[in-house]
Amino acid sequence: MDYCKIDEALSKKEGEKVKIRGWIYRRRSAGKISFIVIRDSTGIIQTIVEKDKVSEKDFKASQKALIESSVELEGIIHEDNRAPGGREIHAINFRVINFADDFPITEYQSVEFLLDNRHLWLRSRKLTEIMKLKAKTLRIIRRWFDENDFYEVTPTVITLNAAEGGATAFSFKYFDQKAYLSQTAQMYLEALIFSLERVWSLTPSFRAEKSRTRKHLTEYWHLEAEEAWVDNEENMKIQEELVSYVCQNLMKEANNELEFLGRRKDELKVIEPPFKRISYEKALKKLQKKGFDVKWGDDFGAPHERVLVEGEEKPIFVTNFPIETKAFYMKISSDKKTVKCADMLAPEGYGELIGGSERSEDIDSMIKRLKAQGANIENYQWYFDLRRYGSVPHSGFGLGLERLIMWIAKLDHIRDATPFPRMVRRASP
Ligand code: 4AD
Ligand code: MG
Repeated sequence: MDYCKIDEALSKKEGEKVKIRGWIYRRRSAGKISFIVIRDSTGIIQTIVEKDKVSEKDFKASQKALIESSVELEGIIHEDNRAPGGREIHAINFRVINFADDFPITEYQSVEFLLDNRHLWLRSRKLTEIMKLKAKTLRIIRRWFDENDFYEVTPTVITLNAAEGGATAFSFKYFDQKAYLSQTAQMYLEALIFSLERVWSLTPSFRAEKSRTRKHLTEYWHLEAEEAWVDNEENMKIQEELVSYVCQNLMKEANNELEFLGRRKDELKVIEPPFKRISYEKALKKLQKKGFDVKWGDDFGAPHERVLVEGEEKPIFVTNFPIETKAFYMKISSDKKTVKCADMLAPEGYGELIGGSERSEDIDSMIKRLKAQGANIENYQWYFDLRRYGSVPHSGFGLGLERLIMWIAKLDHIRDATPFPRMVRRASP
């Protein structure tokens, strides 16, 4: 007889025989009976192991096995309204694969303790639901890119270019030269549009940000796209379509996860194009009116972002930031003060989901801005070649996958959007 998953066992009828395997989630013994709740990737089910119904060896094992022991068993389905899921299994045999030691995680534990034991805490219900949601989100994203003529590509993460500024780049010794862990795949994606026109990639990006906030990881999964023949306006359309497609499809494909995490369907249902656009200049005025002490050239922080999305049900774009607030590769607007860029901000104060822009084609202006950052221009010559040999107007964007999950799953902290979070004081487990 084949093993079945627990969700399947929960749909069987009274009297049907099933064989399952998984881990002990909860347990209690009462004289001649062991009540054991088993967990697998699909759910939990209660099983009853009675002394008279199984061999002596099996019954002893059921009494001895602690939580998180791995087990397999065969039994008969009984409908019972008191059991979680309305079904329980009456075992006819019960085998322990591995008798677990005393599990270190009990009910009330500090955040630090749980992070130290992340490799075990990943088995918790909440993290399980988040990881499923993340996998489903990626599946949907991939589908969207496939349906919209993008090629998935695999850029490098070892680079000599700190495209987002040296201050937040992790450097390391690459044999006898100084290299960086990639902050963005953008420059490499730009090289690929000259053969493939529309490309996207999913890579880890690294940021040596000392800022210890709820929204910053030092390593995150970066979903980036680059499009030939696309301006900043069209680039925003691509982004709002992608994000809306994710929300609309998660609603259909991630019912259980969303319900467990407390994200209501009607909140996702409204996420449809177009998203509101507001210029940096207008945003600045709005903030000043609300009493914030901000002036032209200041970047927006979390409190500013929260005010800008107040009352918004959908993400919004903030466009046309001052040149000095943004990276060297963004195209300068005709006003000569701002760049053709857009940040997509999530509703409810979850912060920046996407940073995108039209790309500069003016080598001299890029060199000037790079020099101001103290960058080594030699390492950027290959990038300028892209402007020398058949340059075309093009745009692209980068979405922080964990930011997206943090918003959709309503997480208090970005660390729970990734299995092994890397933060200022944490590189283990
Ligand atoms: O706005 P950023 O820095 O843009 C770029 O890197 C562009 N080169 C992307 C591109 O055009 N191809 O980063 C893009 C996104 C942010 O909007 C945010 O969602 C996420 O990456 N992000 C982070 N997520 C988690 N932790 C951090 N420290 C992050 N820094 C950026
Ligand atoms: Mg940004």
